Amino acid sequence: MKAFMIGGYNPGTLLSATVPAPAAPGANQVQLALIGTSINPIDAMVARGYGAPLFNRRGHFPVMLGRDAVARVVAVGQGITDIQTGQRVLVAASPRIGGTYADLFNLPRHCVAPIGPELSDTTAAGLGYAGLTALQALTAANLSADTARGKQVCINGASGGVGSVAVILALRWGATVTAVASGQNRAWLQRLGAHQIVDYRDPAAMADIAADIIVNCATPADDDRQRDPLMEILQRRTSPGRAYVTTSNPVLGAVTEHGVVRGLATSGKTYLKKRLAARRHGIRYRWVLFKENPQQLEYLASLFAHPGTANIVGACHGFTALPEVFNDSAAARTPGKTVFLTSRS
Ligand SMILES: NC(=O)c1ccc[n+]([C@@H]2O[C@H](COP(=O)([O-])OP(=O)(O)OC[C@H]3O[C@@H](n4cnc5c(N)ncnc54)[C@H](OP(=O)(O)O)[C@@H]3O)[C@@H](O)[C@H]2O)c1
Repeated sequence: MKAFMIGGYNPGTLLSATVPAPAAPGANQVQLALIGTSINPIDAMVARGYGAPLFNRRGHFPVMLGRDAVARVVAVGQGITDIQTGQRVLVAASPRIGGTYADLFNLPRHCVAPIGPELSDTTAAGLGYAGLTALQALTAANLSADTARGKQVCINGASGGVGSVAVILALRWGATVTAVASGQNRAWLQRLGAHQIVDYRDPAAMADIAADIIVNCATPADDDRQRDPLMEILQRRTSPGRAYVTTSNPVLGAVTEHGVVRGLATSGKTYLKKRLAARRHGIRYRWVLFKENPQQLEYLASLFAHPGTANIVGACHGFTALPEVFNDSAAARTPGKTVFLTSRS
């Protein structure tokens, strides 16, 4: 069978390989036939050794990448009674678990949720990992379908995979949404339906943002050094319930640089410092780390099955094009998700 993997961290190039099919799924595992998958920034980073002390302690290669998928169940392991062979599922798995860039792969049951025919393969191919991260970020900011109505929410990195889903969810729940991204992605943000759109390269417009909740889904890590205009906005306000949540944090960077123990300790210290500093201004501050969650996957699948939900896919290719696109660091980034479909459905 075909699989895409890295043979080492230097240069971290995604390679095409023909490998034996995986063994039968173990207890509480499912075996899946890939229909579609997507690129997430974490895989490009993992390919170059990011998080290796946590994800690949013994330095074993090859490493299969891929954090999400839409796939069909071909076998279930012992103990699984709520998923049947032949069902189509939405998949999201952290880098601690095996990857999805293969014709066939095994994953734990908690990485998948069954989906209905209304959710398209194209959307499902890119929804799992970015979607769960977005949902978990909004949840960390105390936003939900019950609480978001009327709240002023700013999504930074709104043109990305995580940010696009966060904008769609916050709008669906009734929040007033300011979307921040580069000016070139303005049309994308308009199509998502954001109430206000701001270019992060425009300091005056950034300083003018009216929001009580910031959800940061932008690429640069929220570390100790940088000045953060979005945090400054919250500090100037006095409304209750102000929150700053970020998906972009230095945990894995610190682990890569200093090893697991020192890396977790260093980033833990940074986190506490930032939480305390925010609390002094009455702001709830949280880092979000993706966690597998089949119930939340089901929720996303039902929301994105709705024909009125905005499209999150910016580019769609055949599965065989994955290494070429993945390895092309000079390629212009398309907004939303870049997905890859096999000929299966
Ligand atoms: N903590 C976790 O478990 C977890 C899980 C998933 C993702 N993440 C992280 O969350 C971030 C977003 O992921 P993604 O999949 O949405 O990535 P993505 O699709 O590559 O999107 C990145 C976003 O960052 C914006 N951006 C880039 N440079 C920026 C800058 N200098 N200032 C402000 N915004 C900037 C981009 O805007 P333009 O393209 O318009 O410039 C785009 O909206 C990444 O850092 C990723 O590693 C974390």
